[in-house]
Amino acid sequence: MGKDVIVACDFSSADDLFVFLDRFRDRKPFVKIGMELFYAEGPQIVRAVKDRGHKIFLDLKLHDIPNTVKKSMRVLSSLNVDMTNIHAAGTSAMMRAALEGLTREDGTRPLLIAVTQLTSTGADALKDELLIDRPMDEVVMSYAKNAKLSGLDGVVCSPLEAAVVHGSCGGGFITVTPGVRFADSDVGDQKRIMTPAQAKEAGSDYIVVGRPITAADDPVAAYNRCVEEFID
Ligand code: C5P
Repeated sequence: MGKDVIVACDFSSADDLFVFLDRFRDRKPFVKIGMELFYAEGPQIVRAVKDRGHKIFLDLKLHDIPNTVKKSMRVLSSLNVDMTNIHAAGTSAMMRAALEGLTREDGTRPLLIAVTQLTSTGADALKDELLIDRPMDEVVMSYAKNAKLSGLDGVVCSPLEAAVVHGSCGGGFITVTPGVRFADSDVGDQKRIMTPAQAKEAGSDYIVVGRPITAADDPVAAYNRCVEEFID
């Protein structure tokens, strides 16, 4: 399993995405396609990006009954993505069904990553709306362990949590970490952040970086800086 920088391509149209990707002539970034672009452009956007030679993390965060998730995962797997994700809150039955659907006839499959609790869910909502009385870190770690026991490959988490996740779920359990900013750049709406170099130090396996690259004056230079800090 290789460490890599995943670029969160949060664009609203294929045109904007391709203008962005056309800049990258040497190293082709691992691309994250999220709900907005997928719902706007359909599965064709995945095929088109794949044809350009990029690896793809399809970030659709599935959460439904096991049978529906299994059949949906079969479709996503046939799109030949490299990584996709589901909500651990769907329970271990749903996670196992997702794995089954994702596994191709030859036994290969994309990496499957769990979302534990969304970072937008605060402690108050956890208790008052979701009626979960345990502290957030305990909930996150318990969901991560369920994902591991269900056979998933890893979790999305803050780089600040990467070491703890590796400690309780093992070093081979992948941590995919958004919330990355350069030391000298704008933090934006992210709160719990690390630099690419710090994320490397913390043991993150993949960093997910959006605006520090997509909104940079020179996106290729910003991407290369991430690669230098995180991988090289
Ligand atoms: O632009 P920025 O670097 O903040 O983008 C981070 C990406 O990671 C976005 O696509 C965002 O939706 C995603 N993400 C996140 N925090 C999470 C899960 C996903 O920022 N907990």
